[in-house]
Amino acid sequence: MSTQSLLIPARPAPPAAALSFPRFLRAVRTNALTMWPEEAYETNVLRQSFLGRERLLVNDPDAIHRILVDNPGNYLRTAASIRILRPITGRGLLLSEGDDWRLQRRTIAPALAPRVIPMLARHIAACTQDAVARLRAAAGAPVDLLAAMQTLALDIAGRSMFSLEVTRYGEQMRAALNVYAQKHARPHLLDMLLPPGIPAPRDFGRRRFSRRWMALMDEIMQARLAAPASDAPRDLFDLLMAARDPETGAGFSHEQLRDQVATLILAGHETTAVTLFWALTLLAQAPAEQEALAAEASALSFAEDDAAATLGKLVRTRAMVNETLRLYPPAFTMARQAQAADRAGGIDIPAGALLLIAPWVLHRHRRLWRDPDALDPSRFMPDAPPPPRFAYLPFGTGPRVCVGAQFALAEAALALGATMKSFQVELADRRPVLPVAVVTTQPDHAPPFRLRPR
Ligand code: HEM
Repeated sequence: MSTQSLLIPARPAPPAAALSFPRFLRAVRTNALTMWPEEAYETNVLRQSFLGRERLLVNDPDAIHRILVDNPGNYLRTAASIRILRPITGRGLLLSEGDDWRLQRRTIAPALAPRVIPMLARHIAACTQDAVARLRAAAGAPVDLLAAMQTLALDIAGRSMFSLEVTRYGEQMRAALNVYAQKHARPHLLDMLLPPGIPAPRDFGRRRFSRRWMALMDEIMQARLAAPASDAPRDLFDLLMAARDPETGAGFSHEQLRDQVATLILAGHETTAVTLFWALTLLAQAPAEQEALAAEASALSFAEDDAAATLGKLVRTRAMVNETLRLYPPAFTMARQAQAADRAGGIDIPAGALLLIAPWVLHRHRRLWRDPDALDPSRFMPDAPPPPRFAYLPFGTGPRVCVGAQFALAEAALALGATMKSFQVELADRRPVLPVAVVTTQPDHAPPFRLRPR
């Protein structure tokens, strides 16, 4: 594709120079994408120091390899991440460390391994058919595709986990997560400065939220446990209940199971919902690409029995999903705190330093990508050269790489393919849709779309 014809999707303008500490704090609370100056997109490492603590944004491949792959035991989750995510994910996989993490990861990874994808694809297909039917009924009037994709992703997370229609809990879960995002998820100064063991003022509200949220998880689990047992695993819940640590033979306790369920639902649904939303927003502005995806999907079946086979044929659709994850990575940054001093790719890292590896920055780095701000899915087609090493990390890398990556990619490709097969998608107004990152990369408003059935 010639550079002139490429779409440059909207993004917030980076500040001309590094932010002062108060402005940095404000950016972290309101939109983390505005915290990196132009320079961040050109250098290997950006070092800043506040209140005696160093903060490093790392773009250098050797340094990323050292931090995430070679020496991950030295780089643990930060106090702010723990405070913000613990109330919703409990003691589940996302925040665990050391032996506890190793044991959980070994037990959970097989439940999300590639061989489970055909089972998950059936759930994805069933939910997607329902979503397409709902959209078809609503077509004609302006449609809120952000809400539609959130509902779809939550439905997929619920049915893949429990084989239950979570519609009766869906409203409650979405309402709770929205309250959380608005009231409890924004990091404040003391959230970052105090060690996780010492409560920060906002932790009290978070704990109250956590009690309510975990009670809701318990209620859904009880409903699932009341369903008759099955010989073959039907869903992730069956797989997690049957999961045993290969060395000790131990399974999860009720509380551990609940925390894993909460973790997988949270980590899985919001990220995939925004991926689908951004893909549709981009395609609404790129009609030729949209027609190409519709042509690919038109010959394929998205029925439950065919979904797993269809996945392998969604080549261009997958490239679009990958390009969406490049331009609008839902997990815009990975934060770690160095436990001991280290040297990573020629960079000296002092003990206690805060390390940021930011897919948002890496994916738009001037030295790593051609036309970094432009939409060009062809860079992910099978005949294209692979991206430079560690320049593309939507799911992280190393031992803590996203455990649900295959599931997420299957979900995004099937849902996007089925939508493209069914509708032509347009934005119903011209107001630019800007990304805002607090927990995930969300739009600044939910734009109205117009859908024309094909
Ligand atoms: C497009 C969708 C998704 C994106 C972009 C995404 C991104 C990520 C990233 C970047 C990490 C690594 C974080 C770090 O190293 O600090 C991660 C970890 C994780 N993800 Fe995902 N994820 C997605 C979907 C899912 C799904 C569908 C599930 C579950 C069903 C899931 C479950 C998890 C869990 C449990 C972890 C923690 C793994 C560990 O620490 O060992 N994610 N994800």
